[in-house]
Formats: sequence, C-alpha cells, structure tokens
Amino acid sequence: MVIALVGATGLVGQVMMRVMEEQKLPVSGFIPCASARSAGKEVMFQNKAYKVCPVDEAIAAKPQVALLSAGSATSLKYAESFAKQGAYVIDNSSAWRNNKHVPLVVPEVNAHTISSDTRIIANPNCSTIQMVLPIAPIHKAYGIRRLVIATYQSVTGTGVKAVQQLHDERAGIESEKAYPHPIDLNCFPHGGDFLENGYSSEEMKLVNETRKILNAPGIRITATVVRIPVIGGHSEAVNLELEHDFSIADIRNMLLKTAGVSLQDDPNNNLYPMPRFAEGKDMVFVGRIRRDHSVPYGLNMWIVADNLRKGAATNAVQIAQYLHANAWV
Ligand code: A2P
Repeated sequence: MVIALVGATGLVGQVMMRVMEEQKLPVSGFIPCASARSAGKEVMFQNKAYKVCPVDEAIAAKPQVALLSAGSATSLKYAESFAKQGAYVIDNSSAWRNNKHVPLVVPEVNAHTISSDTRIIANPNCSTIQMVLPIAPIHKAYGIRRLVIATYQSVTGTGVKAVQQLHDERAGIESEKAYPHPIDLNCFPHGGDFLENGYSSEEMKLVNETRKILNAPGIRITATVVRIPVIGGHSEAVNLELEHDFSIADIRNMLLKTAGVSLQDDPNNNLYPMPRFAEGKDMVFVGRIRRDHSVPYGLNMWIVADNLRKGAATNAVQIAQYLHANAWV
C-alpha cells in the first residue's frame, strides 16, 4: 500500500515508522510530511531515506492510507482532502473523535465499526486506548456502571518539546517550556485545556471516548488527569463499579485471554506494571487487581502502557493492518 504520514518528524510519527517496520507492513510507497519548518529534512524508513514533503504534495500523490499525527488543526485542514482523493485517513488527533459519522477504533474492541466506505477513522486518545482494552471484556461480561480514573501521564504525551523541557530542567539548562510549570520533581493535575465544567480536555476525552468505543453512553465516568516527570508510558488507577457480581479469578482469567493485554499481578513479589518497563512494548499491562470493598460490585486495577506505542502508533498501524486484511487497500 502507498502510505502518507503527516507528522513524520514528531514523536508519534517516528514511532509509527518503527512500528510499521517491525510489523512488516507491505508499504510500496511512503510519503512522509511535516510542517514548513522541516523542509529539507530526511527520515529513514525501511532502510531508505525519504525527503519530508509538504502535505499538499502528499494529497496530490493519492495515497491509499494517510496517517495523520500532527495535531487537530492540521487534521481538520487536510483529512477531508486526503479522503476525497480516496485515502483511508487514520487520524491520531482529537479533531474527529466525537463526530458520529467517524468510527473511533481500538481494533481488538470495535474494528467492526469500520467498513469499506469509511474514509476517516479516529485513533483514540492514549489514556483511553490503554484503559478500554482491558475493561471491554469486563464490561461485556458484567456491565460497567461507573468508572473513577486517575492518570499518571508521561511527558511523551505532550510531544517533543515537553520531553526536551524535562531533560533541560534536569541538566539545569534554561529553554523553551511546553508546560506552565517545572515538570522535574513535580506533578500537576493539568492535561490539555480547562473547560467550563471544571474538567480538563484530557479528562473529558476519557469520559466521551470510552462511552463511544464501548457503545455505552450510560456509563458514569469521572477522571483526574495528572502529568508526572516520567518517560515510557502512562499509568492509570482505575476503579470500576459493575452491574453484577464477579470473582477476581474470573477477571484474571478473562484478562489472560484478552489479546493485547499482559497480566503483571504478583504484588508480594513486587510484580506490578510500571512505565519504565512498558516502554517500547505494544502490550497493555494490568496489575493490582483487587476488590473494592466500599461498594457491592467494586473492582480496582492499575493499567500501564507505552502511550506512544499502543496508546498511539501501534493502534493506528493495527487499523491500517485491518484495512489491508480486508483487502480494502
Ligand atoms: P515539524 O517537525 O515540522 O514541526 P510532536 O507532537 O511530537 O511535537 O510532533 C508534531 C508533528 O506534527 C511534527 O512532525 C510536526 O512537524 C507536525 N506538524 C505540526 N504542524 C504541522 C502543519 N501545519 N503541517 C504539517 N505538519 C505539522
């Protein structure tokens, strides 16, 4: 397939290239794009150097798949032009996620919402993807009534500038800031913009996207998103209140059989998921599975994944693989 990648110089774009290489995606043509700032730059893909080009050139080349990972404004500007040229657009920004005509896809959970006529497919938010994967089978079996989430998010979720801010602070170098506060030796309950309802935009993504992916508009969800000085992955403390009684053994067995999920749950031997060890991996790691005794059918778990991998690049590449497996591209 011929693939265009918009945002090829960004953190997620770079990981998308590595994941496509690892998964041996049958790419016959590759068109990497970025902003005008990157004119003249080259990227390496499948052992070949490619010049980064302007987005208009990529649209004119009529790729079969366009991976967009350059922020919402860029997606709003270009997604439909790619689609009009016949491309399947897999968009990593939040621009199209709440559009009811656009499927929001975690392939293991709801790939069936894509059809051959679909043109724009939204890749969910990183924190949503890693949470939905392990809770989807639990919802199917027991029904989720309510979710209370607290996240501990890696600086890689904010992009190149944020990672640089952390490194520069640690090295004592004054430089451009991605955050309104120091991030080293600190944490802040601030992800995205604050909204009129008192929540941050990242918190509302967890609420709205989880309901859409699980096709469960009635689930009550509340979230607190926190940025921490970590590289490697996002962690989440997730409290679930279920409709029906369950046993911890059933939950474990279910998660052991869930594609893409890896159980790390032996706290007495210090085994639980950690971002340092999730880094570079495609799995979602789950541990600290335990009953919440404060409500009738309560459950707690700790979920960790590399936000650049399953939380972004891997999920997007899996969507491209799904299109290919169906012979649509
Ligand atoms: P560039 O490197 O030229 O700025 P990150 O979130 O890791 O910072 O990456 C953002 C990605 O989106 C980069 O590849 C960046 O390119 C790209 N990008 C930002 N704005 C635009 C734009 N207007 N058109 C195309 N690509 C863009």
